[in-house]
Amino acid sequence: MIRVVCPGSFDPVTNGHLDIISRAAKLHDEVIVGVLRNPSKSSLFTADERVELLREVSKDLPNVAVAKFNGLIVDFCRANEVSAIVKGLRAVTDFDYEMQMAQMNYNQAGVETLFMTTNPLYAFLSSSLVKEFARYGGDVASLVPEPVLHQLTERLARE
Ligand code: PNS
Repeated sequence: MIRVVCPGSFDPVTNGHLDIISRAAKLHDEVIVGVLRNPSKSSLFTADERVELLREVSKDLPNVAVAKFNGLIVDFCRANEVSAIVKGLRAVTDFDYEMQMAQMNYNQAGVETLFMTTNPLYAFLSSSLVKEFARYGGDVASLVPEPVLHQLTERLARE
């Protein structure tokens, strides 16, 4: 049984994340979406809200579960018998840091990282850009799942 983790901040989950999660789910027995709870980093949505949104948008993927984690991803992998980390690579700009993290995780804990190329439709997409465009009235409806758009619009209206 091959269980993998797709880790990230997911603040909020975008169509790019969902594309990687659903493709990973086709290739592996189980996928855990690992939501980093990092109290030192400010986020628009709390970790619980991010988990809730991920559960909602992945509800049709039966072999996908969502969990929060603190600390090192390799410790989460050990604790949950995860075989590998799956990451999306958008462009060459992602490569250096992703490569460094993958090698560190392998060096420290023998945890493998598998890279999937992002769907070119979403190569430019990031949660940060979605928030910035949405905050200033940009139309991000085609970039995030509907429940995220709804929550994002509500949250930004309160700012
Ligand atoms: O969505 P993000 O913020 O780009 O995701 C980054 C994430 C959460 C995958 C990465 O920062 C991570 O794995 N953090 C957990 C802490 C950790 O293990 N750090 C060492 C990485 S070598």
